[in-house]
Amino acid sequence: MTNIAVFASGNGSNAVNLVKAFNAGTRIHVALCLTDRENAPVIEKMKELGVETIYFPRNVWKENPQAILEALRHRDIKVIALAGFLCFLNSEIVDAYEGRILNIHPSLLPAYGGKGMHGANVHKAVIEAGETKSGATVHVVTNEIDAGPIVVQREVAVLPDDTPESLEAKVHEVEYEIFPEAVVKTVATLTPPALPKSVDDVWAEALGVPNNVPKAPEVPDQPQSPTPQQQTPFQQQQTPFQQQQTPFQQQHRVEDAVRNHTNSMPPTYLVWSIVMTILCCTVPGIVAIIYSAQVSSKFYQGDIQGAQRASQRAEIWIIVSFVVGVLSNTLYLPLAIAGAF
Ligand code: GRF
Repeated sequence: MTNIAVFASGNGSNAVNLVKAFNAGTRIHVALCLTDRENAPVIEKMKELGVETIYFPRNVWKENPQAILEALRHRDIKVIALAGFLCFLNSEIVDAYEGRILNIHPSLLPAYGGKGMHGANVHKAVIEAGETKSGATVHVVTNEIDAGPIVVQREVAVLPDDTPESLEAKVHEVEYEIFPEAVVKTVATLTPPALPKSVDDVWAEALGVPNNVPKAPEVPDQPQSPTPQQQTPFQQQQTPFQQQQTPFQQQHRVEDAVRNHTNSMPPTYLVWSIVMTILCCTVPGIVAIIYSAQVSSKFYQGDIQGAQRASQRAEIWIIVSFVVGVLSNTLYLPLAIAGAF
């Protein structure tokens, strides 16, 4: 899980969008919201979404960046997203999170960026200049305003009848797309930890599954899978690559095994084999009984194909027993009747 923080001063619609994009079922979590405005509407919205929110007065932002950094470190925040944050960001914070602070700006930077260019001012300036396109940009925060490397940028068309308000609404729509994209991109570039991870750890993380490799399936009242000693030489002769299965593959093997053990044992035809042995022809009937008995034993040893083969052979020998029985009786009866007279 990668914890991120949002800093916001106003409405917080981008902050809300990030929480909704990530906090339900992704490996990125908006764990903290910081604001510099005591009555910012974003505070209430974050509260409703269950995101911890702290208000730090402007003087703390300016004079005591260590307090901010402490709050971030305490919650293991890896990336910061400035979502309409109108306070000067102390260079100590910028340096501590170098390359990991993103800002969203409502224009196609570098156009309409810099001092005084925020919110409605930007859209007004774009329309007054007669631009035919505007947009939104997510960039990395540096100590220079709106000047860091661009992470994602997307355009919107400016139509002749657009007002600053209608343009703002259009720009907001693309902001809701590109800000989560930029966060994901940034999280993906985070420095890997110093200790190398095992292959299983990497797979488990990538697939979002816990790395507690499942043990052999335990199906109640069912025999266990064969031990290595019970396996055929062919089964034991696995390449190192085959042996090094990912948790994902192992999970599937477990599921397959459980499915095989519970659902798909082929028919044994044991009753029919016995009936044919008694009523029809004894020798092929006994052969059918032998194959019938092999079906379940092979199946529970994990030899599914062997069980299927035994089932088919039992079926064939039942038919043989029946046909031979019927033929011999048809031939024998008239002879027996003739002999009696
Ligand atoms: C957005 O337009 C963003 O580009 C700018 O401030 C605005 C914040 O809007 N930095 P909201 O508070 O997220 O609705």
